[in-house]
Amino acid sequence: MQVNLRECWRIGPVEVPTRVVLAPMAGVSVQAFRRQGRRYGAGLVCSEMVSCAGIEHRNERTLGYLRVAADEHPLAIQIFGSEPGVMAEAARMVEAAGADLVDVNFGCPVRKVTKTGAGATLLEDPARATAIVAAVAGAVSVPVSVKMRRGLENGSRVCLELGPRLVEAGAATLTLHPRSAKQMYTGEADHSLTAELVELVDVPVIASGDIVSHAKACEVLATTGAAAVMVGRAAQGNPWAVAEILEGGAGGPTREEVVAELLLFIRETVRELGEQRATGFLKKFYGWYLGHGRFPKPFKQELLQLPTISEVEQRLLIAEPGAAALLEALGDEVEEVVLEGLPISAYGGG
Ligand SMILES: Cc1cc2nc3c(=O)[nH]c(=O)nc-3n(C[C@H](O)[C@H](O)[C@H](O)COP(=O)(O)O)c2cc1C
Repeated sequence: MQVNLRECWRIGPVEVPTRVVLAPMAGVSVQAFRRQGRRYGAGLVCSEMVSCAGIEHRNERTLGYLRVAADEHPLAIQIFGSEPGVMAEAARMVEAAGADLVDVNFGCPVRKVTKTGAGATLLEDPARATAIVAAVAGAVSVPVSVKMRRGLENGSRVCLELGPRLVEAGAATLTLHPRSAKQMYTGEADHSLTAELVELVDVPVIASGDIVSHAKACEVLATTGAAAVMVGRAAQGNPWAVAEILEGGAGGPTREEVVAELLLFIRETVRELGEQRATGFLKKFYGWYLGHGRFPKPFKQELLQLPTISEVEQRLLIAEPGAAALLEALGDEVEEVVLEGLPISAYGGG
């Protein structure tokens, strides 16, 4: 079967321009990451998971996750929690913030989340899971999506029982990451389950897990019948992977291009999180951007030792002076985002 990742598809009224979706990732999916993903061809981007309890208590950090930039659309904001009423109220806030979709997290395997009855635990609590989806779908007029793992235990197929019930309760699309919660990120995503889920539901299914290349994306779409693939770890510090997954055949960025994108990412993240928070947040991104054999390891180590972000920026420009002109051109291309209304965001667990 021939697949065209450049094809437009729909989730209810929401038009998604390509079949590549950028994954929600806690501690990664800041606005800068999502906007960059859109520039490189992701048809849909998603916030990291946002705590419904945090929204309910108007926690300043939590509300920061609800900032939406004009050039992010279509955008899903993901919420997690275990109380249908609280989830419904949070969904209303998410819709009011400007999200095109409310995504519900039934996949987080982290104990801090599962012990509260949220995340992947809900895969084994179908009554509560369907009540949550019904409450959220009843509370908003935008489509509701659900992101699931295969189940809690290795080999579980519980997602196939739950999926159709979630659709009945009002889910307009399902994303399946076919690993168990126990697996965390080990082993392989078993997309034969994705194919089975596609057969069972009449809404589009998004395939998440191990999509690292155009060839893999085409194979998964062709063998599962999924509407789109979701890209997570492959896109960390690597927007070029999104373009390659979409088009195939890209040659990879030059060092100047890598530095220019990293500098833009730094600039935008500082604006979003504030300098103090961004300093720690950005450290993992240095390795992600400069890895892939693009720069020698000692260079990354050197950046990690530098105490301030402006020293990091200067060092990057000394290494690749040509990046300055590229950065300027990128800056012209990317609209300046004025942050107002909501407080400074921070990244959270999951
Ligand atoms: C650092 C990290 C954070 C994640 N945070 C979330 C999250 O907040 N919500 C969610 O539904 N999935 C989360 N995931 C799972 C991803 O969305 C995705 O399903 C998973 O990484 C498999 O895709 P990949 O192989 O393309 O990375 C996270 C994954 C990683 C690596």
